[in-house]
Amino acid sequence: MKVKLKVRRTDPEHGAAGYSQYAIDMPESSTLLDALIQVREYEDGTLALRCSCRSAICGSCSMRVDRRARLACRAKIITVTGGDEEHEILVEPMTNMPVIKDLIVDQELFFSKIRQVDPYLQPLGPVPEREYRVPNEAMIDLTHTMNCIMCGACVSDCTVLEVDKNFIAPAALAKAYRFAADPRDGHTHERLEKLSEYSGIWDCTRCNMCVEVCPKGVAPMNRILQLREMAMEAGIQNNAGARHTNIFTKSIIDGGRLNEVWMLPGSVGMFNVPRLLVEAPGALRMLRVGKLPLAQAIPPGAPGSHKMQGMDRVRNVVKKAALLKPKRAEVTD
Ligand code: SF4
Ligand code: SF4
Ligand code: FES
Repeated sequence: MKVKLKVRRTDPEHGAAGYSQYAIDMPESSTLLDALIQVREYEDGTLALRCSCRSAICGSCSMRVDRRARLACRAKIITVTGGDEEHEILVEPMTNMPVIKDLIVDQELFFSKIRQVDPYLQPLGPVPEREYRVPNEAMIDLTHTMNCIMCGACVSDCTVLEVDKNFIAPAALAKAYRFAADPRDGHTHERLEKLSEYSGIWDCTRCNMCVEVCPKGVAPMNRILQLREMAMEAGIQNNAGARHTNIFTKSIIDGGRLNEVWMLPGSVGMFNVPRLLVEAPGALRMLRVGKLPLAQAIPPGAPGSHKMQGMDRVRNVVKKAALLKPKRAEVTD
């Protein structure tokens, strides 16, 4: 089959960047990586890309394919093009990391974030003479995160990292869950405290991109949500994210819907005057366009506050959702 490629090129020596286009013949069963290697071997020896296992194991061939991070060795041409030989596949390096050359990025940012979460077990006290005994269900829950091959696809497409390079980012947070939720680890509370600070678990906007692009089903966003639950259960609630969750839930339980007037002071803290002043112009704009109904000015739960009809049903939904939380397993030795 004919394969058309449009590949982003970056020449670090001359600081030049642009696109190269190639049209080659490949067998129908080819992957994008096969096609790129074919280009490098027979068409253009200057094309730089990274790869090793060619089996979706080593994580080295991540790149953006039609504007979505993927493993090139796992991307079947026929699937990417939908069988349309006129479809020109756009191939670009991962984003959120500096480009070294063509499709190769500097992954230092990725690994520095992994190091930030202490990615190793830290048992409390001496390790047992014999093996730990860990309940099966505890390890099954962790197998998702253990599947991570450090490919960087989730970091490339993370929408928060795009605007805030301090964000710990999805792969490292999934790794943090792997150790915080491991019943053999003795520093779960400290880990959760650190992860609850600025740039940690509460900075994720739940855009779901990391879940969509992860080739190994790690689903980092889901792990981040689990870390949030663990932090809340551990009583680590003196931060904007936890306060936001609490005022959100209280607003629903008390009135059946979000009380926009109290969301901001409830989240940043009633006495956080500097932050409230920063947000004041936005609040005034919302007031002007009717997004802050003054009828909601009575705090949720206070006498006279808004209540929608059928509140018992709303509260039942909240109660049932709370019952769905999984119990954590414990370790013995
Ligand atoms: S869900 Fe969160 S961590 Fe995942 S890509 Fe979106 S912002 Fe980043
Ligand atoms: S979580 Fe998934 S996408 Fe992110 S580095 Fe690991 S395997 Fe790659
Ligand atoms: S070459 Fe190893 S994951 Fe693609």
